[in-house]
Amino acid sequence: MRETPNADLPVPRSVAVIMDGNGRWARSRGLERIRGHERGIDAVRRTVEECARLGVEALTLYAFSEENWSRPAREIKLLMRLLERFLVDERPTLMDNNVRLLHSGRRDRLSTRVLERLDESIAMTAANTGTRLALAISYGGRQELADAARRIAEAVLAGELAPEDIDVATVARHLYHPELPDPDLLIRTAGELRVSNFLLWQISYAEIHVCDVCWPDFQIEHLHEAFRTFGRRVRKFGTVVP
Ligand code: IPE
Ligand code: IPE
Ligand code: MG
Repeated sequence: MRETPNADLPVPRSVAVIMDGNGRWARSRGLERIRGHERGIDAVRRTVEECARLGVEALTLYAFSEENWSRPAREIKLLMRLLERFLVDERPTLMDNNVRLLHSGRRDRLSTRVLERLDESIAMTAANTGTRLALAISYGGRQELADAARRIAEAVLAGELAPEDIDVATVARHLYHPELPDPDLLIRTAGELRVSNFLLWQISYAEIHVCDVCWPDFQIEHLHEAFRTFGRRVRKFGTVVP
């Protein structure tokens, strides 16, 4: 936790967000679900800008889960189109705020078009030194651990690693982005009390904050409230705190 431009606001080093409730936001207004996803982009921009301003080191946003591939084809198509547009339109936001973009997740089911836009934005922002923004797209926590296990097994087969040397640090090194600090704070919007296969390894000691508003309604004040709640938590990491 550090002093921030917002006087007493505690700022976690690493923040992860399950951006949930876009569909409900839209349906409650009699709109198509995709309208909620569209409006969700404004909330992404606000959140990225504010985290960058406050000096958050790493921000991981859950944009599309491995399980989301089982949604209706039309919703997936529109979401992917939106994602492509987002990856191009938000480049000025990333550059103006010195944000470096990363991708967390599997690439195999993403279209060439999405991958190209993603890779261009990652390359364009590679030298930025501020907040690292990891977009979790086609991401699953179990899949990430299975991928890590496969790569560890390959290293063993290649004779680079002995099974008895595999420990917690070995697994951590084989995650998608081992360089990112584990989230200190996990925020979920729209009130659900579950992790939905997000960062299962990394959130071991994250503080969890569930916010009732749907993601398109998530404002800077909600982010600040999450940070303030975080600042009041006593983090024990399994030890005894006097
Ligand atoms: C979160 O909103 C965005 C994605 C999962 C892509 P939802 O689409 O899950 O919205 P609800 O939960 O149905 O309201
Ligand atoms: C989690 O939300 C995935 C994202 C926010 C991208 P879901 O809406 O898919 O999760 P469940 O189905 O409610 O658990
Ligand atoms: Mg949802």
